[in-house]
Amino acid sequence: MNPLRLESVQRSIGGQVILDNVSISFAESQSCAITGPSGSGKSTLLNLIGLLDQPCRGRLVLDGCDMTHANADQRAITRNRLLGFVFQSFNLLPRLTILDNVALPLSYRGIGLASARRAATLQLEKVGLAQRARNWPADLSGGQRQRVAIARALVTAPRILLADEPTGNLDCETAQAIIGLLCRLNHEQGMTLLMVTHDPAMAQRMQRRLLVRDGGVFDA
Ligand SMILES: Nc1ncnc2c1ncn2[C@@H]1O[C@H](COP(=O)(O)OP(=O)(O)OP(=O)(O)O)[C@@H](O)[C@H]1O
Ligand SMILES: [Mg+2]
Repeated sequence: MNPLRLESVQRSIGGQVILDNVSISFAESQSCAITGPSGSGKSTLLNLIGLLDQPCRGRLVLDGCDMTHANADQRAITRNRLLGFVFQSFNLLPRLTILDNVALPLSYRGIGLASARRAATLQLEKVGLAQRARNWPADLSGGQRQRVAIARALVTAPRILLADEPTGNLDCETAQAIIGLLCRLNHEQGMTLLMVTHDPAMAQRMQRRLLVRDGGVFDA
C-alpha cells in the first residue's frame, strides 16, 4: 500500500490558488526531491502532507487513513506516529541538551525519560554525535545541529520523513554530507523521504523528482 496519496487536492490562501487539482502518490521507501521556483508552493505541499495544513478540496490519505477532515488532535497523533520533520532552520530547543532534544518526540508519546534517552542515544550514534549528547544546541556547528534535528526526526521511526530545504543554511560540503546521511538512513530504515531543494545536484540524488509550478505538481 502506498503510505501517502493526494487526490485532486486544492489549497488556496486569501483567494489565491496555490495548488490546484494535485494528485500524486508515493511508494514505500521512495526518495523524492520537490523542486520548483520560489513561491510555487513547495512548502505548502509539504505542510499539507505533514498535516500542518489542510486542503480546501480533495483528499489526503496517509497510511490508509483519510486525514482530509481530521481534527487537530488526530493530526497531532498521526504526525507523531508516522511523520518526521527536518527544517532549514533546525528548530532545536535551546534550553534542552542535544540528548533531550532528540528524546522529546518520545516523551510526547508518553515514553519514560530513561528509555526515551536510551533510544535518543542510539539515534545520535547513527548520525555520529553520541559524544555531544550533553552539549547544548548553541555549542554545535550548523551541520551538527542539522544532524541532531535528523536524529530527532527519526527517533520515532517514522514511515515518512519530510525535509524542507534541509541544507539551505549549510555550506556546500556540509550540505553534501547531510544529503548523504539522509540517503543512507532512507536506505537503511526504509522510510519514504520527501525533500524540498533548490539544488539540482541534491535533487539528482533522489530516486524521483517532482516539479511544483503554476499550481501543479509534475514528475520531472
Ligand atoms: N500564510 C500565508 N498567507 C498568505 N500567502 C501565503 C501563506 N503561505 C504561503 N503563501 C503564498 O503561497 C505561495 C506559495 O508559498 P510557499 O511557501 O509554499 O512557496 P515555496 O515554493 O516553498 O517557496 P520558497 O522556495 O521561497 O520557499 C506564495 O505565493 C506565498 O506567498
Ligand atoms: Mg518554501
